[in-house]
Amino acid sequence: MMAPEISSASSLPLERLAEGFAASFAGYVVPISADVRAFEQRLRTEHVHLADSLVMMKEGRLVALALVARRNVTSRVAAMGVVPELRRGGLGRELLRRVLDEARARGDRSVRLEVIESNTPAVALYERMGFQVRRRLVGWEGTPPEQAVPLEEIPLVTALEAILRYGEPGLPWQLAPETVAGLTAPTRAFRLGAAVAVVTEAGSQELVLRSLVAGEKRRQGEGSRLLRALAARMSGRWWRVPAIVPEELGAGFFAANGLKRQSLTQLEMVSSSNPS
Ligand SMILES: CC(C)(COP(=O)(O)OP(=O)(O)OC[C@H]1O[C@@H](n2cnc3c(N)ncnc32)[C@H](O)[C@@H]1OP(=O)(O)O)[C@@H](O)C(=O)NCCC(=O)NCCS
Repeated sequence: MMAPEISSASSLPLERLAEGFAASFAGYVVPISADVRAFEQRLRTEHVHLADSLVMMKEGRLVALALVARRNVTSRVAAMGVVPELRRGGLGRELLRRVLDEARARGDRSVRLEVIESNTPAVALYERMGFQVRRRLVGWEGTPPEQAVPLEEIPLVTALEAILRYGEPGLPWQLAPETVAGLTAPTRAFRLGAAVAVVTEAGSQELVLRSLVAGEKRRQGEGSRLLRALAARMSGRWWRVPAIVPEELGAGFFAANGLKRQSLTQLEMVSSSNPS
């Protein structure tokens, strides 16, 4: 029996990677589809570099993969999985070791990731490999009160200007302006006064809030006014803010606008490979 070999993910066609991604996440806390479009969208918005992502092959079959995203001098493990029958055999550790070695070799300062807090095997693996918890990420959902006020739909790039100017610095990867910049329709952006919101319509029932910034001055009710006006414009939707928001950000705001905290939480973890 040959030992699995590690190679660059760019050596495989996208369809095989998408299938391998789903197979290595079998039994995961949330279902992962093998849909190529969804996979490609993830690669693009999150800045996954396939050339720096790794696959483990055994007898021609993909048995593990690590998707690696890169921005500036930071890498992020965007996904990491081993097919169920080969878990607990040391493959996850070997693959992650290689990800960290390659990040260090190219001069990255740190490698980060997010992990679902209840995913004990993954949290244990990351801790063992030297990752430290930076903060807890939470999500929100519900139906905000509706308040019909006219709003302006604006191009995503205009929303991005406001996000860059007034947004919180140091946000988690999926909330960062770089991620918002890569979104496409059905993602839409709206403005009311100085506040802007970016939302993605998921089917006819659900709305995913991707970004929300009040203007220069906080605590003036601008964010709430925009949220409620948008709720009226897209009446009756179930709103979801994925569990990618730092716990200390916006808790009072979401609660005041009718959203409840989701039970699923994530941990953002960091490994400093080249501390400066
Ligand atoms: C998380 C995952 C990638 C680990 O891969 P793996 O090959 O099974 O892990 P390894 O055999 O290399 O284990 C390395 C260390 O991780 C920890 N670990 C792995 N599985 C564990 C488990 N089921 N329970 C507790 N600790 C576990 C242990 O510290 C282990 O070291 P040890 O065996 O010396 O005790 C694998 O469980 C998986 O693919 N899960 C589904 C996808 C997923 O959840 N990915 C993470 C998303 S962030």
